[in-house]
Amino acid sequence: MGAITLDAVEKWFGETQVIKGVDLQIPDGEFVIFVGPSGCGKSTLLRMIGGLEETSRGRILIDEADVTAEPPAKRGLTMVFQSYALYPHMSVADNMGFSLKTSGAPKAEIETKVAEAARVLKLEPYLERRPKDLSGGQRQRVAIGRSIVRDPTAFLFDEPLSNLDAALRVEMRYEIAKLHQALGTTMIYVTHDQVEAMTLADRIVVLEAGRIAQIGTPKELYERPGNLFVAQFIGSPKMNVLPCRTEAGTYYLEGGRGGEYGFGTPAAHIGVRPEHITVGASGAGACDGVVDVVEYLGADTYLIVDAGALGQVTVRVSSEDGHRPGDQVSLIFDPKWQLFFSADGLAVSG
Ligand SMILES: Nc1ncnc2c1ncn2[C@@H]1O[C@H](COP(=O)(O)OP(=O)(O)OP(=O)(O)O)[C@@H](O)[C@H]1O
Ligand SMILES: [Mg+2]
Repeated sequence: MGAITLDAVEKWFGETQVIKGVDLQIPDGEFVIFVGPSGCGKSTLLRMIGGLEETSRGRILIDEADVTAEPPAKRGLTMVFQSYALYPHMSVADNMGFSLKTSGAPKAEIETKVAEAARVLKLEPYLERRPKDLSGGQRQRVAIGRSIVRDPTAFLFDEPLSNLDAALRVEMRYEIAKLHQALGTTMIYVTHDQVEAMTLADRIVVLEAGRIAQIGTPKELYERPGNLFVAQFIGSPKMNVLPCRTEAGTYYLEGGRGGEYGFGTPAAHIGVRPEHITVGASGAGACDGVVDVVEYLGADTYLIVDAGALGQVTVRVSSEDGHRPGDQVSLIFDPKWQLFFSADGLAVSG
């Protein structure tokens, strides 16, 4: 079992508070991803869960047992980092079995566990090789294999794929998803990669300066962000956020037009994702602008539109779209996907 609970945890480095009271309940078997800007505390929080970093205040529970004061070895968790630090003089099999060997496990048990991990990770053909004779992705799989043989109650990953090239990351992302399906073990995974977060997570925890900005499924965070920070952090390219004002059932864009506004409380920002805007003839949409840059990506194209006082607006269009820099366009927002935020940045919903 690997249910993990964080109860008002805080981390202070001297006078500096880095984790500012985090509550989180992770049921057994869940795949949870921590995201957030550099320095927001993702690694620190993960290391606190793993016991590599002392918890200044609050409690950490694993399967209802308080482990806050326990050393890493007593927690039954394993950590996989970006740098995998394999023993260069040992074979893949010996690297994977090393921790079992040092803990005195019988040879037969080590062999069985290494064989099973190699099967899950498709490392069977490489068991006798040295790490230097492996690709980066294979080495990272060996590092994960070292964790699997220990039968952890949960896996903690800190940006495990960030040293790999783009194609390998995609492959390893798939491998990690399969691994989670096969083992059903709790996984907590820190990443900077939007696609990793969206595709792997059961739930994403967005951290902002040591606090949880929002927790939810990828779909919840994408479609119903609770605040402007999450709205603009999740999704690439970013959600467009434009200043607006609201009055008796209508919203107005500065220097533009507006549309229907269905909420009782006032909004100060409207948020629209690039794929929820279409380009129409002049005057057709909520605002007008001039195409500044055209980014052709193959499957689709982004138009970066200069909308005057409203700022830049990114619009996702088909790759067959023929707009060119300098074109005058009008931007039509899909009313179903317009989000509104108050002056203090919270999503307006009532
Ligand atoms: N030992 C330490 N002493 C003092 N401050 C620290 C220490 N370790 C981390 N910090 C600070 O804590 C904050 C959070 O660091 P952390 O490594 O958790 O961020 P992160 O979210 O993992 O960032 P990144 O995405 O860059 O890896 C940072 O401001 C960092 O400078
Ligand atoms: Mg980090």
